[in-house]
Amino acid sequence: MSYRSFSEFVAALDQAGELRRIVEPVATELEITAIADREMKSPGGGKALLFEQPTIAGKTSRFPLAINTMGSKRRMAIALKVNDVEDLAQEMQLILKAKPPTNLRQGWELLKQGVNLLHARPKHVSGGACKDVVQILREGESAGLTLADLPVLQCWPKDGGRFVTLPNVHTRDPDTGERNVGMYRMQVYDDRSTGMHWQVHKVGARHGKRYYERGERMPVAVTLGGDPAYTFAATAPLPDGLDEILFAGFCRKKSVELVKCETIDLEVPADVDFVLEGYVQPGELRAEGPFGDHTGYYTPVDDYPVFHLTAITHRKDAIYPATIVGIPPMEDFYMGTASVRVFLPVFRMNFPEIVDLALPAEGVFHNLVFVSIRKQYPWQAYKIMHGLWGMGQMMFSKYIVVVDEDCDVHNTSDVLFRLCANTDPQRDSTFIKSPCDSLDHAPTLPNIGTHMGFDATRKLPGEGYHRGWPELVKMDAETLKRIERLFGS
Ligand SMILES: Cc1cc2nc3c(=O)[nH]c(=O)nc-3n(C[C@H](O)[C@H](O)[C@H](O)COP(=O)(O)O)c2cc1C
Repeated sequence: MSYRSFSEFVAALDQAGELRRIVEPVATELEITAIADREMKSPGGGKALLFEQPTIAGKTSRFPLAINTMGSKRRMAIALKVNDVEDLAQEMQLILKAKPPTNLRQGWELLKQGVNLLHARPKHVSGGACKDVVQILREGESAGLTLADLPVLQCWPKDGGRFVTLPNVHTRDPDTGERNVGMYRMQVYDDRSTGMHWQVHKVGARHGKRYYERGERMPVAVTLGGDPAYTFAATAPLPDGLDEILFAGFCRKKSVELVKCETIDLEVPADVDFVLEGYVQPGELRAEGPFGDHTGYYTPVDDYPVFHLTAITHRKDAIYPATIVGIPPMEDFYMGTASVRVFLPVFRMNFPEIVDLALPAEGVFHNLVFVSIRKQYPWQAYKIMHGLWGMGQMMFSKYIVVVDEDCDVHNTSDVLFRLCANTDPQRDSTFIKSPCDSLDHAPTLPNIGTHMGFDATRKLPGEGYHRGWPELVKMDAETLKRIERLFGS
C-alpha cells in the first residue's frame, strides 16, 4: 500500500495516464508556474507535470521537478493508494467505533492508539536511500551541492525570491520530545539559508518559541518527496501531539522507516528524495515575502525565523517536488478536500448531527465552510458553528454556512440557493471574535478578527418562527418514473 520512493509514485501516475512529461527546458523562474497554473485550472485539476529539464538562471538543473502530483481527486487517491479517499475515512470511522469515545479529547486519544496499533509505529533503521549522496556544509568551505542546485521555483512575478513550496518540516518539542511535521514554505535567501514560514498558530512555531525561551539552537530537518503520504500528513490539520509520522504510517499501511540525520539530532523518513538538515537560531528573524499565496493575493513582507543549512542528502534518482498556490482552484484544494474527507468521522463523532462538510475552492481552505446537519432542535446550527470554530485549525473558518441535510454541500450553487432563500440576514447570522489565518489580509490587524456564521436551515417554531416553513418545490416520484419510462433517464 506504500510507495518506496517519490519516483515510484510518479511512475504510478504515468501508468494511470495522469502524468504529462515536459522534455523541453523550462525556466524555474515564472515559466513552470505559468504552465502549472493553466494545468491546475483545467477541468478536474488537469494532469501531474514532470519537468525533465527545469532550468535555473538558464542552466539545466541536475534534478527533474514534479508538480500537481496530488492535484485531482483521482491523483489524491493514487497518492494514498486507495480507490477513493473515503476508504481511509471509513478506517478512521472503524477506529472510532471500536470503543466510542465520550468526548473529543478521548476521541483523539483513541485515534492515536488505533493509528498506533494499525502498523503505524515507525521503525528505526541505520541507513536509507535518502543518503545515496551526502553533502555536509561546513562554514567557510565551498560545497559541490547547495540550495542553489535545487530547481526551486520563483512562482509569481512579484515574489520576494525563490520558495521551496512542498517542504515537510520536522521539529521536536524540547520539553516532551514529541515530534511534529508541518508544511511551512521556505524562501531561499542564499545557497545555505532560507526563511521558515511557520505561522504563529502552528506547531513548528510553538516548538520554536520553547527553544527561544530556553536559549537553545533549534534543530530542524526538512524532507522533500518520498511516499506522498508524508506530504499529505504534513499538511493535514492533526491536533498538536498526534504524530504525523504515525499518521503517515496509518495512511500507507506500513511503518515509516526513520533514519538519523547527519548533522542534527533528528530522524527523518529514510526513503525521501531530499533531506535539508539545519537549525533555527533563537531570536534571529528576517524579512520574508512577498509571496503569491493561497489567498490569491500577495502576502506582504513579514519577519520570520531563518533556517541555516548544515547538510543536504538525497537519493540518486531524486525528483524535486513542488506546488504553486495562487488564485483558486489550485493543487492544494484537492489536498485540503482529502483531509476534510478523512477527518469528517472525527467531526461527526463530536457532532453526530453533521451529515457532510465541504470547504469550497473559492474559500481557499479557511474562508468558507459549508456544513449540512440533521436538525432536531432550535439553534442547533449555532452549536455546530461554535463547535467547529473550537476545533483546531477550523478556528480559521471565516464564514460558516449551516444547511439542512437535503442540501448537497459540494454543490456551491445549491448552498447559495439555500442561503439566499432561507435566511433573514439579521436574525440568522452571528459574529464572533477569533484568531484569524495569518495569511488573511482582510482583518484590520494581523491574526485576529471576526468570523460570521449563517443559519440557512429551515426555522422551527422554537426559534421564534411561527409562519409554517414552506416545502421545497419538487416533482413527485411517480411522474418522474413515468417520464423516465417514456424518455429515458
Ligand atoms: C502547499 C501548502 C503550503 C503551506 N504553507 C504554509 C506556510 O508557509 N506556513 C504555515 O504556517 N502553514 C502552511 N500550510 C498549512 C500547514 O501545512 C497546515 O496548517 C499544517 O496542518 C500545519 O501543521 P502543524 O499543525 O503541525 O503546524 C501550507 C499548506 C499547504 C498545503
